Amino acid sequence: MPFTRLKPKIKTLLANNRESLENRLKEVCELLQSTIGYYDWVGFYFANEEKKTLHLKAFAGEPTEHVVIPFGKGICGQVAISNSNFVVADVKAQNNYIACSMYVQSEIVVPLFKDGKNIGQIDIDSHAANAFSREDERFLEWVNREVANII
Ligand code: SME
Repeated sequence: MPFTRLKPKIKTLLANNRESLENRLKEVCELLQSTIGYYDWVGFYFANEEKKTLHLKAFAGEPTEHVVIPFGKGICGQVAISNSNFVVADVKAQNNYIACSMYVQSEIVVPLFKDGKNIGQIDIDSHAANAFSREDERFLEWVNREVANII
């Protein structure tokens, strides 16, 4: 399904204030993971600024043991500090990388800003090599702006 057709569905899921924030985020993860073939794992991490850690709040795909990630560690931890998108074409070429599954070949992490502050991120893993493009970056930036609106 093209990104343009997913956007109204995401808006509807996020607008459903009968569900908790966590459940709405989980539904967004499930929608993305089930409709975009190369999105094999989708999750949202949020920052604890005092502890300097990221915490997994919602995901779709295989459960991961990496539910808490220190700032600076792995692709996610680096994005907590850099405030920039991190697109990894080949995870094996990264030395600061936390492996969640032996099948993952590429990854994208896009920071989520609320009032200009980096408060979390969306993280996607793919079993395909070099899976993510500029279009994914623009789309995931849009998703994160929509999420920021309900936080
Ligand atoms: N690979 C990530 C860890 C999270 S898992 O992909 C679910 C990283 O290096 O930060």
